Amino acid sequence: MVEKGVDIAPADGKLGILLVGLGAVSTTFVAGVEAIRKGAAQPIGSLTQMGTIRLGKRTDNNCPKIKDFVPLANLDDIVFGAWDIFHDSAYDAALNAGVLEKSQVEDLREQLESLKPMAAVFEQNYVKRITGENVKTGKNKMELAEQLIEDIARFKEEKGCDRLVLVWAASTEIFVTASKVHETLEAFEKGLYDDDAAIAPSMIYAYAALKSKVPFANGAPNLSCDIPALTKLAEDNGVPICGKDFKTGQTLMKTIIAPGLKSRMLGLEGWYSTNILGNRDGEVLDDPENFKTKEESKLSVLEHILQPDVYPELYKDFAHVVRINYYPPRGDNKEGWDSIDIFGWLGYKMQIKIDFMCRDSILAAPLCLDLALFMDLAQRAKMKGVQEWLSFYFKAPQTAPELYPEHDLFIQLMKLKNTLRHLKGEDLITHLGLEYYD
Ligand SMILES: NC(=O)c1ccc[n+]([C@@H]2O[C@H](COP(=O)([O-])OP(=O)(O)OC[C@H]3O[C@@H](n4cnc5c(N)ncnc54)[C@H](O)[C@@H]3O)[C@@H](O)[C@H]2O)c1
Repeated sequence: MVEKGVDIAPADGKLGILLVGLGAVSTTFVAGVEAIRKGAAQPIGSLTQMGTIRLGKRTDNNCPKIKDFVPLANLDDIVFGAWDIFHDSAYDAALNAGVLEKSQVEDLREQLESLKPMAAVFEQNYVKRITGENVKTGKNKMELAEQLIEDIARFKEEKGCDRLVLVWAASTEIFVTASKVHETLEAFEKGLYDDDAAIAPSMIYAYAALKSKVPFANGAPNLSCDIPALTKLAEDNGVPICGKDFKTGQTLMKTIIAPGLKSRMLGLEGWYSTNILGNRDGEVLDDPENFKTKEESKLSVLEHILQPDVYPELYKDFAHVVRINYYPPRGDNKEGWDSIDIFGWLGYKMQIKIDFMCRDSILAAPLCLDLALFMDLAQRAKMKGVQEWLSFYFKAPQTAPELYPEHDLFIQLMKLKNTLRHLKGEDLITHLGLEYYD
């Protein structure tokens, strides 16, 4: 056993979860937490609520629930806030999103109606396909950031929260790469005053959160806080950050199957992925510039898992194509097809087909919960900057600049659990296991 672990402040009082975007994912998340609190549903898909963690040897039979092992905020102590470009309450937005049964939304009407979004920071250029009225105005981007900082402080005060976390679950912004204005905090702040076009709304939210010392988790693939200016601000202000892009449907499957193929040294000729979905996310992603952000995030996983440089005979030059097609009749119930061309012993070819009839927001909602609770834990444990141990939740995990991201779901889970063991001063589990045979 390690000496004593890390000092973690208790999870006393209320935790405010501020959601940017009150769309399909956010409303499914909020409604789910409300239903669970009422005892009307189970937190399926949530590691913080259902997961266990083995401590010590396999023969010790010590496997507590994660939520009993580390001090996480209790679901009854959560309070929600949100921003959106539409005025709809969480009740109307949930009905609009059409993820949950109408009767289930009706049962939670009172709680959902009370969640009304604050006015958003929005720029049409970054999300082309939607336009809303509930949008802030200001003479420059710094003024907009200050308005968000005021929103955060007011929410905390009015709701009597002890701590806050912020989760980006708003639309995917157009593809941008980091440039000069993103390099240092000085350049970034000057850019806010100068209304620099390269500063996206999601960066303004991230800046406001970090200035307010509120952890920021990014559920979309846009850069947001994955720029040097903001990672530095997170470090300096002692705030945890993580991202990018919730790992839910097709990419979740990819990061489950690809490590398995590689473990058995099976080769890959190509992986063709296509999706049809008809929700608002699908509509936004129908724009080529917004899709490009998503495509980059979805494409990166196979290269990193399969390591073509290390295994050229198996993975050099495999074809990888990802498509998303907006198809309204399907709503949030996305269908993701994968056609995987592999080869085995002596080069003989085989095929794997996957048809995942998934429900996007049903898969994403528990991730919002886990991220909010773990980010709050991280802050109470004085962890700051990029939280790579939360890569488990992301398609394009944010890492230190010199590191490649770890995409293998099982390595990510081991890393997450070992981080929890480390925090509590428990032995890390290496899976060596020789001692059982001594
Ligand atoms: N559902 C999943 O499985 C999944 C997986 C990975 C990533 N994501 C990402 O999560 C995000 C949310 O997905 P969704 O299905 O809930 O989408 P959605 O379109 O239903 O909801 C997004 C909401 O964000 C609002 N919005 C847009 N720009 C905003 C801004 N600047 N400030 C405040 N609100 C803003 C929109 O009005 C909308 O209500 C998307 O970026 C999506 O790509 C979702």
